[in-house]
Amino acid sequence: MDPDGPRFFDTHAHLNDPRLAEDLPAVLARADDAGVTDILVASYDLPSSRLALETVARHDGRPVALRAAVGIHPHDSRDADAAAMAELREMARTGAGTGTLPVAIGETGLDYHYDLSPRDVQRAVFRLHMEMARELDLPVIVHEREATEDSLRLMRDLHAEGRLRRVPGVFHCFGGSVETAKELMGLGFFLSFAGPVTFRNASRLLEVVKSIPPSRLLVETDCPYLTPVPHRGERNEPAFVELVARTVADLHGLSIETLCGIVRRNAETVFPRRR
Ligand code: NI
Repeated sequence: MDPDGPRFFDTHAHLNDPRLAEDLPAVLARADDAGVTDILVASYDLPSSRLALETVARHDGRPVALRAAVGIHPHDSRDADAAAMAELREMARTGAGTGTLPVAIGETGLDYHYDLSPRDVQRAVFRLHMEMARELDLPVIVHEREATEDSLRLMRDLHAEGRLRRVPGVFHCFGGSVETAKELMGLGFFLSFAGPVTFRNASRLLEVVKSIPPSRLLVETDCPYLTPVPHRGERNEPAFVELVARTVADLHGLSIETLCGIVRRNAETVFPRRR
């Protein structure tokens, strides 16, 4: 890694996905070579949540600083019964014996594109995640696809009930409109962008990125998914976060070093380490 080069923070990576977990030391070495200093490991079900905590306990600082989030993805919310939510809460509260405290709840949210769980179940489990996050004073990582109205409604309701944190969290891999982004920022949310900003035909998405003040931006890979150009067809990994960051920096007319500094400050604001 170039000691004078930009230092990247990948704020959403599934190092707990089997496709990355199988050669994790090599993935982390390539991330280090590419100037990635920090990675947040996002989870999608109970086993991946436990693995995220164990991965951080084992690999934090070797050589990349790692932190974890625990949560049940909307695809799997049909499995989030009372026992599962109690287990998730224990992991979120105490680390469940792994030696790591997670810094966020996620991912959670709504996905009406795939509809892998019934929508009413997705909404109920999303709300439970939001309430747990508030109770434990943790931010959330929200996955939202083709469910903008219902997501906004829940956030408005929680805000009206006084149950939204001052910094509620992030909408990751944001694909919504300029107007939706505005409303979410008004509620305190940050917005994170991934590989799709590098895709051809991303012009609408790029307009959204441009509309967001740098002070509310995060960047991520969402690896192993959403591989940025020019690596389409390969497995995504944190080393490629630079391609996302450079696109976002260019859109805002910022140097890559300046953008990385802002993203790092934002990430520390949303996802501070717990002691
Ligand atoms: Ni993800």
